[in-house]
This record gives sequence, C-alpha cells and structure tokens, in this order.
Amino acid sequence: MSKIYSPSEVSLHTSKKDCWLIIHGKVYDVTNFLEDHPGGEDALLHASASGDATESFEDVGHSSSATSMMESYLIGSIEGYVKADKAPAAQNSTQKAAAAAAASPSSSSFLDFLLPLIVLAFAFAAWYYLTFQAKAKTGHQEL
Ligand code: HEM
Repeated sequence: MSKIYSPSEVSLHTSKKDCWLIIHGKVYDVTNFLEDHPGGEDALLHASASGDATESFEDVGHSSSATSMMESYLIGSIEGYVKADKAPAAQNSTQKAAAAAAASPSSSSFLDFLLPLIVLAFAFAAWYYLTFQAKAKTGHQEL
C-alpha cells in the first residue's frame, strides 16, 4: 500500500470494470468487490464518482468486519492527505482546549481558597463589632 495517488488519478477509475474509492485518505480498488458488496454495486459506483467516499461510507455505519475487509482492497493513499485530528487547526484547538482545561481548575481552586478567607474576614468583623463597638456604646450610655 505504499503507492501515493492524486485525487485526479483516482477519479479516472469510476466504472463497473474499474472502480476505486477514497476513504479516509486511502485508496481502495473495489472492482472485484462490486458484486459482493452487501450494500449493492450502485452504492460503491456512486461513492466512487463523488470523489471522496469517506462521508457515505461513514453514514452507513459499517461494521468492524466491513472495516477489516477493506484492507484486502487497499492499493495506496492520497497525496498530501492530513488526518482531520492531526491537522494543524485541529491541533491548535486541542491545545487551546487543553490550556483552558489546565487554567480553569487552577482559577477555581484559587476561588476555593479565597472564599473561606472572605467568610472568615466577615465573621471576624462581625465578632469585633459585636464585642468591642457594642460594648463601647453601652459604656457610653452608662456614663
Ligand atoms: C471498501 C469499501 C467498503 C467495504 C469493504 C464495504 C463493506 C460492506 C459490508 C461488509 C456491508 C454489510 C454490513 C456491514 O458489515 O456493515 C456493507 C453494507 C453497506 N454498505 Fe458498504 N462497504 C464499503 C464501502 C461502501 C461505500 C463507499 C458505501 C457508500 C454509500 C457503502 C454503502 C453500503 C450500504 C448502503 C450498505 C447496506 C447497509 C444495510 O443494508 O444495513 N459501502 N458494506
């Protein structure tokens, strides 16, 4: 499966006698599978003519045995194909998500730390007021 094909080269093989498919950046020669395909040969021919069969293949929700069958029809891969989860844009968003995930727990733990301190400060202020200010007031009244 070492051969690299261009999409235009694959698009030359869309007939009943010569049918190739592009699925997830890999090229499959399904000519001998057309008649045996449980989903019918038309499904494969249409997918072949559409250029990239990945979406239609995934939409069907093929079984794992179907996926392992694919190996026997594999003839190569598409030039310059970058896996969606390895594309730079996807990597950036993953990194951003990771950074956000790393930042949020630390900021929430900072709040977790600050909140009891604020409550304590209020409690202390209330205690101080009730103990000293109230006493001072009653002291003045006594005078
Ligand atoms: C090398 C490529 C492919 C292989 C090896 C393959 C294999 C299979 C197999 C084994 C099944 C039986 C059900 C299962 O096990 O999931 C199936 C069903 C089917 N396939 Fe594919 N398939 C391929 C590509 C495609 C593509 C590109 C389409 C495009 C629409 C397609 C459409 C269908 C449909 C409609 C069914 C019938 C599902 C059903 O009736 O439940 N297949 N295929």
